[in-house]
Amino acid sequence: MGVQELSGKEFFQWRKKLLSKGGREVDFDWLIDICGGLRWSTLQKLHLDPSRSLKLQQTLEHLGSLWREHLDSQIPLQHLAGCCPWRDFVLEVSPEALIPRQETELLIDLALKRFDKDFQGLWADLGTGSGALAVALGRSLPLASGHAVDISEEALSLAQRNLQCLAATANVRLHLGSWWEPLTPWWGAIDLVLANPPYIPTAVINTLDPIVKENEPYLALCGGDDGLDPCREILKGACDALSNGGWLILEHQHDQSEFVLELMCNSGLKDVDFETDLQGEKRFAFGRCP
Ligand SMILES: C[S@@+](CC[C@H](N)C(=O)[O-])C[C@H]1O[C@@H](n2cnc3c(N)ncnc32)[C@H](O)[C@@H]1O
Repeated sequence: MGVQELSGKEFFQWRKKLLSKGGREVDFDWLIDICGGLRWSTLQKLHLDPSRSLKLQQTLEHLGSLWREHLDSQIPLQHLAGCCPWRDFVLEVSPEALIPRQETELLIDLALKRFDKDFQGLWADLGTGSGALAVALGRSLPLASGHAVDISEEALSLAQRNLQCLAATANVRLHLGSWWEPLTPWWGAIDLVLANPPYIPTAVINTLDPIVKENEPYLALCGGDDGLDPCREILKGACDALSNGGWLILEHQHDQSEFVLELMCNSGLKDVDFETDLQGEKRFAFGRCP
């Protein structure tokens, strides 16, 4: 039910005024969609015919104050909204875990190319953060069992809330600890592992956009001197933890593909290869246990 009704013309005047203070149109429209309930498709129709009327789920005053807070305090819109649409669901987000990125959605597509909804084996999400990957796997592979691991207690609590809200808890267990370590009872039996480990080199962290550097957990960003320490640690245990033929699929930074593929081959994985993101950048590496 709308709490503020206005014409398209009035809406565009208000939008123009707020955008004149700074920020990107695409971000503004995202906020109005998520917090005001004005869907992108409705906005396009309003552009074509501004005489139409619209209903917003929040007052202009409230939406305007969120936008100003975003501009003044460099707070991500997802934190202001408290949520983030990701694949076919909406996740709760907070400063305690990385805001799940759109490119990470492709890790799920890579997994679902190899395993379908009848898969009854075991999967793991290492460094689960908000639980985005675990929720998607839990929903897409309902007959499988899953384990979501993180070294951050706060991130795990957020992942648990997301798994509960999105009805994906039935077959997913959460573990506090480092990478494979909490999963020792299942070593040798894990058929699919997804990980989006921290991969920003330490020296680069300070050069990141303040909106990222000051709002995302350091633990979720920093991958050590060359950004590849977490990747090395994960690969060290891969062949012990994966089942025979089990897949490991990793996300990494756009300039790390060559190094990650080499580390994967050296770890004993076979069928090692890369996949690109929607911009054509090599962002994913995969391999399987012999
Ligand atoms: C880049 S974030 C990814 C979060 C989530 N999977 C996503 O894609 O949005 C990396 C995650 O790894 C976790 N992490 C860092 N070091 C870890 C470790 N040694 N063992 C387990 N998780 C770790 C961080 O707390 C963070 O949640």
